[in-house]
Amino acid sequence: MAQIPLLLSLQDLEQWKSASTEAINFVPTMGGLHAGHGGLFNAAAQLGTRVLVSVFVNPLQFGRGEDFERYPRQLEADLQLAASHGVHALWAPQINDLYPRGEAGLTQVLPAPELVQHLCGPQRPTHFQGVCTVVARLLALVQPKRIYLGEKDWQQLQVLKRMVLDLGLPVQVMACPTQREADGLPFSSRNTYLTGEQRQQAAALPKALAEFSICPNPGIADVVQNKETLLLQLRSCLEAAALQVEYLELVNPLSLQPLQLLETPALLAAAVRCGSTRLIDHRIL
Ligand code: PAF
Repeated sequence: MAQIPLLLSLQDLEQWKSASTEAINFVPTMGGLHAGHGGLFNAAAQLGTRVLVSVFVNPLQFGRGEDFERYPRQLEADLQLAASHGVHALWAPQINDLYPRGEAGLTQVLPAPELVQHLCGPQRPTHFQGVCTVVARLLALVQPKRIYLGEKDWQQLQVLKRMVLDLGLPVQVMACPTQREADGLPFSSRNTYLTGEQRQQAAALPKALAEFSICPNPGIADVVQNKETLLLQLRSCLEAAALQVEYLELVNPLSLQPLQLLETPALLAAAVRCGSTRLIDHRIL
């Protein structure tokens, strides 16, 4: 049977770190672990060094009216899943460990403004600040050699890569491909909010994105003539599946700035509501 990871407190973390000189590969999570996290753990375990996972539902990255209270909390199950992917230790920080002076006394990290002007940025105005702040704090306490992040949250990945670069943080960012369920829906802790019927509707999101992710070339120019046509057709596909479109954008994958023309490389990204559940997905063209 797989070895259950050590469950660490902040004090234990210090001891665990100093017990070996082996580098630490770190996977920050908010728990509710699933096969998507499993992919990150596998990648982190591949290099034969120590793998540490953190589980912390970070209040700073949830806006008012978002699902902070509802977010899955299931430490026992998280330990089991982490064990089956070779994780050595799981650190579940308390809020005081990360924010000892509370929110009012906290120095926060702002994301690069140009990276949050589009996609999830406008709808979730404080989200990426919360993400940058918690990840900077986690990195300071863990001091890992590598941090593993999923491409599923593509905008988060670009924001955090830029933060590491701009602040000169001594950590290597390792990006891991999106893990998908059999029908294409990316694994997400929020998928547990969906009813059976909504789960079927939700599958229309990856399906539509995949269908429309054809590289523009002369052969298909008459099918998908330009950016507006592409986005309009895609929107009606999503709406036909009873998904409410929050945004649907075509941007440069690194600068996250809108593309005027249908050109490659491009990030075709969407956020939709399925009932009250917000889902995101993207494709690189
Ligand atoms: O992607 C997540 O689960 C979170 O945003 C992260 C990176 C763990 C920060 O809380």
